[in-house]
Amino acid sequence: MNVTCDLPFGPGAPWLAPLAGYSDLPFRMLCRRYGAACCVTEMVSVKGLLYGGQGSERLLAKSPDDQPLVVQLFGAEPDVFERVMPGLVQQGYTHFDLNCGCSVRKVTKSGSGSALMAKPGLLLSVAKVMVDAAGPGRVGVKLRLGIQHGEENFIEIGQRLADLGVGWLTLHPRTAKQLFGGEADWSRIAELVRAVPVPVLASGDLFTAEAAARCLRETGCAGVMFARGALTDPMIFDRLRALLAGDEPRPRTALSLAQAATAHIELSRELDGTPRAFRALRAFLPRYAKGLSGIRSLRQRLIECQDWDELLAEAQSIATLAELPGATAHDHADLSPEC
Ligand SMILES: Cc1cc2nc3c(=O)[nH]c(=O)nc-3n(C[C@H](O)[C@H](O)[C@H](O)COP(=O)(O)O)c2cc1C
Repeated sequence: MNVTCDLPFGPGAPWLAPLAGYSDLPFRMLCRRYGAACCVTEMVSVKGLLYGGQGSERLLAKSPDDQPLVVQLFGAEPDVFERVMPGLVQQGYTHFDLNCGCSVRKVTKSGSGSALMAKPGLLLSVAKVMVDAAGPGRVGVKLRLGIQHGEENFIEIGQRLADLGVGWLTLHPRTAKQLFGGEADWSRIAELVRAVPVPVLASGDLFTAEAAARCLRETGCAGVMFARGALTDPMIFDRLRALLAGDEPRPRTALSLAQAATAHIELSRELDGTPRAFRALRAFLPRYAKGLSGIRSLRQRLIECQDWDELLAEAQSIATLAELPGATAHDHADLSPEC
């Protein structure tokens, strides 16, 4: 099927990846400020939507400026998708992504996420329900290579999905069994680009703008999706744009990180403002100080913050932290991946 997709693709149009626990409305708005061309929500359970599960409403929070937006869904039962999709379309959501990449047990044990890659027929049925409800070109699917090495089936699945009318594919080139181990094999992204007629987005080990530029060059992909890279450096989107334009990317300095942290708090306060959002930010903010000295005491002071103003003052104090020689922001050991 020949479909077109009206979402932004291109080397200079990086996306924010779906990030369970992180890519909520305030963080999406922050990334948009720094040049994210399109954002994906945290994964949302279709069963949770059907049965009014806790938090589904928060996960679906949107604002008129939060565009273009892709809602990522997970589940494994076509009939549940059939019941949920019309309501989502009616609420004004236009683009959707099917999560076939998440490998954590709590998702795969119900046959969802990367477990769907073991059942291509079922995966296709779910995708078809989504395409039928949203329209051709308005659904993407986020894939891994397959369940394990020797059983890579992403090419066959990708081709069948393209025939079905999906608008784009995203590949995180690790197997489900690999979780986040080893390295993302970008050569597999290049293989998918050659094999399907739809845009392919790259995901996996894109921790810097330089890495993203290299991935674009090496794979010919239609665009990149920043995930962990955006969590320590939301300015990564702008940095990629500058790099591709031949400009000098703005360096990641203590001052620019303090500004990002401050903007993040202000957006959270304005767009959410709940105690849950406040607690989540206290845990999130130390990420902005990665590679700076004094991160431990910052973390402690953040835990002690009792209100938004105190949080803002601590965020501003990041500007005074010294940069550690040779330190990088790309040690993600403390982040237990949710997917
Ligand atoms: C904390 C965390 C949460 C994630 N949540 C999701 C999710 O909800 N849906 C999804 O498809 N992938 C999810 N992922 C996977 C990312 O979107 C991305 O594919 C993966 O992190 C590889 O990119 P990176 O190496 O550049 O981080 C998550 C990853 C992390 C680290």
